[in-house]
Amino acid sequence: MRPTVSLAWASLSTSLSPLFFASAVQLLPPPPIPSRFTAAFIQNQTASFPHPKNGTPLVIDTFTDPDRNDLGFWHGPSTSLASEHGNGYVRLYSSDPDQNYHTELGPATCFDMQPYKHMYLHVVFSGSTKFSVSLNQHNQKCDSRRSPFLETWDTVEAERYSRGNDLYVPLAHFDIDQSRTVSVSFHGFFSRETLTLYKVEIVTEIPWGFYIPPKLENGKLYLHCTRPNSFAFGIDDGMPHLVQDVMKILEEEKILVTFFVVGAGLRDKEANFSQVYKEMLRRGHQIALHSDTHQQIEGLDTIKAIDEEIVHNIETFQRLLGIQSRYFRPPYGTVGARTRQRLAAYLKDPRIINWSVDVEDWLWAESKTPERQRDAFFRDVGRGGNLVVMHYLSPTTVQYFREFIRFVKSINVDIMRVDQCLEDPDSPPFDPYRYRQRGRYRVESNRNPEDQQGETG
Ligand SMILES: *[C@@H]1O[C@H](CO)[C@@H](O)[C@H](O)[C@H]1NC(C)=O
Ligand SMILES: *[C@@H]1O[C@H](CO)[C@@H](O)[C@H](O)[C@H]1NC(C)=O
Ligand SMILES: *[C@@H]1O[C@H](CO)[C@@H](O)[C@H](O)[C@H]1NC(C)=O
Ligand SMILES: [Zn+2]
Repeated sequence: MRPTVSLAWASLSTSLSPLFFASAVQLLPPPPIPSRFTAAFIQNQTASFPHPKNGTPLVIDTFTDPDRNDLGFWHGPSTSLASEHGNGYVRLYSSDPDQNYHTELGPATCFDMQPYKHMYLHVVFSGSTKFSVSLNQHNQKCDSRRSPFLETWDTVEAERYSRGNDLYVPLAHFDIDQSRTVSVSFHGFFSRETLTLYKVEIVTEIPWGFYIPPKLENGKLYLHCTRPNSFAFGIDDGMPHLVQDVMKILEEEKILVTFFVVGAGLRDKEANFSQVYKEMLRRGHQIALHSDTHQQIEGLDTIKAIDEEIVHNIETFQRLLGIQSRYFRPPYGTVGARTRQRLAAYLKDPRIINWSVDVEDWLWAESKTPERQRDAFFRDVGRGGNLVVMHYLSPTTVQYFREFIRFVKSINVDIMRVDQCLEDPDSPPFDPYRYRQRGRYRVESNRNPEDQQGETG
């Protein structure tokens, strides 16, 4: 899911040209065990993950079959990821952090990992260590036709957990609901070096002396609203000349939304975004982080480059809007272990916001069939999606926006900000009266305020 439309201010700054894979990446060997991690310390650590007496190792994948893993379930790369399958391995030629390889734990339904919770994910591999390993959680209905398919996932940096050709991650390091796991995946590639996978399994023990690093904080990832009967529009930056139209629709429909705002756009005086978003704040909308220059930041080759994307966005919010936010939407929805960890280094308990309704404006807004944005919206809402991604880059998207709002109102679902729909105790309380009162699509009312008091609909 990748918007290809460039933002209005993109041409104003040469620093926006993609840095991704611009230079060859020098690979370092896996870090040695620091001397303070003595064998006794490691044994102690291992002891804190007691093995279940009857814990049975589970071989997930030895890559002997091109389409199925050892459990008999699907494995394979995402469409754009070049790969080569041999007997007993799969070699991945990544070129983009969004590419991924999944090996599934069930027939696209939920797999209960809880009996294994004190055990370890073991991967045998060679080549790059510059990727993320994730354990993915299915949606509430364990139904792959619902949106989102993956409700959330947790992830670790391969490099921190690997030595030589082995990678061991305590399953306890994946902070998800492990009664509903669906797959193990490899993604977040930030090098073009190939990665070859030989084995994926769950084991009861790690080799003596194998160092397991502490889990790093990394923030939670959300793809849908958790509050019952709620719905949220998460709107990414767009064109300065369309923002007044968006504001008018929001006022007339009396809804609150969340804007994900890029630092560089906010600093661009000509675009007037700092005035615009101050106004949005006054009107009660949520303004949330969206990086500094809108790149696939997981693909940047240094932590410093990732940090700059985060820190400059935070600083710009403080300086120009006077606000702080712990909500972040990764540009293009691209996120891996490093981005998540760095967000947690700068923000307390960051909330990373993806989506379960994609208007696909990036695909259709400027095409000959802009109405396919409607199809996309209704398709995803029909599948249970309730957290939207859209941009106001094209008049066609703005034109459909009111229809989207009215449709959600017509099915009596409450539209609110993302923080409200995620039941954030720090969010302003949702005001159902204000919302329902305006649910009748009437912009003006001649009646006196007393009459309006009784008018809930
Ligand atoms: C191992 O654990 C014991 C008891 O919890 C503790 O007293 C000891 O200091 C630990 N040893 C190391 C090296 O951490
Ligand atoms: C974001 O959501 C879309 C649609 O559900 C999905 O295809 C994509 O992989 C998600 N990205 C992340 C980072 O979860
Ligand atoms: C900038 O935005 C503010 C707030 O919406 C608006 O009142 C003002 O007219 C805008 N200025 C320009 C030059 O568009
Ligand atoms: Zn964006």
